[in-house]
Amino acid sequence: MSHSVTLRGTGLAFTVEGDESMLSAALAANIHLAHDCKSGTCGTCRFRLIEGSITYHEPPMGLAPEEEAEGYALACQAHPVTDIVAEAEILPAVLSEPARHSAVVRAVEPLSPSVSRLVLELPEGASATVLPGQYVNILLGDDRKRSFSVASAPNGRTVDFHVRRIPGGVFTEGRLHALAPGETLDVELPHGSFYLRKGDFRPLLMMATGTGLAPIKSILESLHDDPDCPPVTLYWGMRNAEDLYLHDEILTWQDRLCEFRYVPVVSRPGAGWSGRTGHVQDAAAEDIEDFSEYAIYLCGSPEMVRAAKGAFVGRGASPNHIYSDSFFFQHNLKGA
Ligand code: FES
Repeated sequence: MSHSVTLRGTGLAFTVEGDESMLSAALAANIHLAHDCKSGTCGTCRFRLIEGSITYHEPPMGLAPEEEAEGYALACQAHPVTDIVAEAEILPAVLSEPARHSAVVRAVEPLSPSVSRLVLELPEGASATVLPGQYVNILLGDDRKRSFSVASAPNGRTVDFHVRRIPGGVFTEGRLHALAPGETLDVELPHGSFYLRKGDFRPLLMMATGTGLAPIKSILESLHDDPDCPPVTLYWGMRNAEDLYLHDEILTWQDRLCEFRYVPVVSRPGAGWSGRTGHVQDAAAEDIEDFSEYAIYLCGSPEMVRAAKGAFVGRGASPNHIYSDSFFFQHNLKGA
């Protein structure tokens, strides 16, 4: 049994055969629907069902109930049961295909007791293929890889990463601190659909937990001194105040971004903390009555991403203007 999928407003259509997912069928037809994990967790392949019906083998984790109630579904898990008409994001031609390279370690230095800055130098031209917000796979051999978002704006051939030590982590605990400047690492890049949608001119609401700050930092640094920079609000959630490893540097962005507002939020405040406390998405919900005017970028724990999407869509945010990257196991132990 086959069903047609028509992508409204694009002139594109394709056919889904048998038990194929909508995403697989689109990619086979050379239609690059936005996607990342292909496992129903990241939510990047979200589309809006206009006509027809789909089903899932299992309800996908990456779709908040509030999004589903608004008619959204996930293409990597959706199987059409009728011909359908949908609205979906098509990846632009500016995204490069991932390629393997040999990178040279330039530095490993502490940012906090649990987070290190890893600096790699890439071959000529390779770093220019990475859009701010995207990630890189570090290839460890034996088909093992670890994924890290680039934390720096395009800057010659070097790229920075924020690497949090994971107890027992093969790379973060086993190899990172044994790396010496001049050593080489095999890498594959660019990956991911978390990048600045320049055509989305709304004020930016950026939200990160932990090292989810890295891709957001890359995006915001790419907007430094840009006359077209929209107003920017950044919420950054951490467990303790001492974990806010880039706090002082972020304060300096005040002069380089438009109407920049920075709200650090700590979930386990110590005696010396007088700032915001609790969950970062709750702090934003306390501050913002109506989310309908924002382009929202979420990066960090899957719990935060899911809770924020639900809360913000419930307060007027459009799922079409929410972009997210969950730091969990979709990228083969991302960050471990
Ligand atoms: Fe479908 Fe990640 S690509 S949820």
